Amino acid sequence: MALMNWSKDLEVNFPKVDDQHRSLVDIVNNLHDAMKLGKGRDEVGKVLHFLADYTTSHFKAEEELMTRHAYPEFSTHKQIHTELLKQVGDLVKQFDGGQAVLTLKVMSFLQEWLTKHIKVEDLKMASFLRTRVA
Ligand SMILES: [Fe+2]
Ligand SMILES: [Fe+2]
Repeated sequence: MALMNWSKDLEVNFPKVDDQHRSLVDIVNNLHDAMKLGKGRDEVGKVLHFLADYTTSHFKAEEELMTRHAYPEFSTHKQIHTELLKQVGDLVKQFDGGQAVLTLKVMSFLQEWLTKHIKVEDLKMASFLRTRVA
């Protein structure tokens, strides 16, 4: 069973951002599956690196939109992104260093983080962007 289900309440109604969030949810689910199905280290590592890269480019895309449209809460939002990227970066480092860091606890952390961030900060950002991009 998938860890996360995409549902309407995760939509922020800004298509480019919603598409990327859908992909993020897919990748988190793929990572969860790879772990649960006991896939080898290589396979799990590949998905983990892909998740880290995708998260980096997704945050960059949001930050570009916020900058371009002079979003007043840009620095707070960016700060939150930076903190998660640091945590994910640490996770990757630990994993690459041979530690078994991908526990179910980490997966639920990622799931909860993503859900909360989308429903709070990204929703706020998207509401603002919609007023700018008609
Ligand atoms: Fe986002
Ligand atoms: Fe965001």
